[in-house]
Amino acid sequence: MYEPTKRQNRDHHRGGTGIGLASAKRFIEDGAFVYIFGRRQEKLDAAVATLGANARAVAGSVTDAGDLDRLFDTVKQKRGTLDILFANAGTGALVPLTEITSEHYDETFDINVKGTIFTVQKGLKLMGQGGSIILTGSTTGVMGTPAFSIYSASKAAVRNLARSWAQDLRGTGIRVNVLSPRPTLTELAAEVVGRDAMIEMGSTTPIGHVGDPSEVAAAAAFLASSDSSFMTGSELFTDGGLAQI
Ligand SMILES: NC(=O)c1ccc[n+]([C@@H]2O[C@H](COP(=O)([O-])OP(=O)(O)OC[C@H]3O[C@@H](n4cnc5c(N)ncnc54)[C@H](OP(=O)(O)O)[C@@H]3O)[C@@H](O)[C@H]2O)c1
Repeated sequence: MYEPTKRQNRDHHRGGTGIGLASAKRFIEDGAFVYIFGRRQEKLDAAVATLGANARAVAGSVTDAGDLDRLFDTVKQKRGTLDILFANAGTGALVPLTEITSEHYDETFDINVKGTIFTVQKGLKLMGQGGSIILTGSTTGVMGTPAFSIYSASKAAVRNLARSWAQDLRGTGIRVNVLSPRPTLTELAAEVVGRDAMIEMGSTTPIGHVGDPSEVAAAAAFLASSDSSFMTGSELFTDGGLAQI
């Protein structure tokens, strides 16, 4: 499994809630020191209080180059290098084709795609041999979902970034993979789809229940670890089988 003590034990990931928080918890259990990043200071404070001594937070937005520089400057000053970069920040809203606005497109693509690109470009400078980059995709990237086209297209873009980046990273010893969840009970999912609808969606999967963020975190831990050493450019689904049948 994941042996961060042999790998300098440095880590960073996004978000003080949901899948990000569950993954931070799991990475720390596996021995990592984590930096979490998100816009809401109160969520970050609560997350650090839960996560304990091996977690720190920096507040900012992935859409702001200055905020990302401040994040990675902090990591560099305090820890030196980075072993794992989990680019997990994301947003989405249900908007049918006839109601798509320029603002909806910009917000979704700025956070999900541009945010992912510059998080990785800037974080990469602190990474080296054995590093693992994980991008958060979604089953929506390979499926059609009513009123979810912009979000789904943004996740298809994220999935494709990893295909090219795996080639850009050839020879560096750094791997990049996509982790694609679906129905997982989190704040974003409850906001976008509704809690009851998520539970209902979970019941229609072959597994038969909605996902818990810790189940996605377990797959993130696998992609972070040397157990996935022969994987790059891949997509790993944690979706109860939703998009696999
Ligand atoms: N839950 C699911 O079923 C599901 C399915 C497929 C994919 N996903 C993906 O999983 C990822 C995590 O979502 P989640 O379900 O765990 O929901 P969540 O709890 O709402 O997490 C989203 C996180 O992204 C952060 N974030 C959003 N915009 C940001 C920005 N501009 N800058 C920095 N951080 C930002 C949020 O923090 P702040 O708001 O404080 O900034 C929040 O912590 C997302 O990429 C989502 O698209 C989730």
